[in-house]
Amino acid sequence: MSSNGTYTAREFNLSGLKGISDETLEMHFKLYEGYVKETNNLTEKISEFIKDAKVDQEEMPAYSELTRRLGFEYNGMVLHEYYFDNLKSRGGSGDPSQGSDFVKAAESSFGSYEIWKTDFVGIGKMRGVGWAICYQNPANGRLSNHWITLHETGNVAGFVPILVMDVWEHAYLLDYKPAERPKYIEAFFSNIAWKTVEERLKQITGAQSARA
Ligand SMILES: [Fe+2]
Repeated sequence: MSSNGTYTAREFNLSGLKGISDETLEMHFKLYEGYVKETNNLTEKISEFIKDAKVDQEEMPAYSELTRRLGFEYNGMVLHEYYFDNLKSRGGSGDPSQGSDFVKAAESSFGSYEIWKTDFVGIGKMRGVGWAICYQNPANGRLSNHWITLHETGNVAGFVPILVMDVWEHAYLLDYKPAERPKYIEAFFSNIAWKTVEERLKQITGAQSARA
């Protein structure tokens, strides 16, 4: 974010994924830039409404609509950054290694990594437009998986996104048919940057032990 409060779209050094083409990524980066642009536009328009320190009754419908859209665009921007960041250029190595921090967190929260994965993949296959997100509860360190409708409905306040998977059709439509979402999810797993995912986990673990 710049000093005047506007966001600049980030550049992601991401290409050569397994089963997700560079064309898809290029198109997806453009879509992400659209979310950044709209977040800035809406923030600016809303600031026009409030700069006289009141929202007049006749301004209320337009102000309300802009503010509702802000939740959509803002989450669209932020979630795409998490998503691109948790993918590994040239592809990853599949599931995380046994004994890794993520596997340990999945085991203590779900019983096993396989059960965690069954839940996360199951959520990813749900019909509708949205995201599958594995969050960590900062209060107790536990992982939980959630379905997010569009970008903004279902996010748990205060929980930290650990692994974020876009399951909007635009994430895979150039590579797979709409009904082939399971194949895209398989491809997603073969490209996860587990190091990045685990860094997200560690930040919370560190904060917790500092409080203990
Ligand atoms: Fe997307």
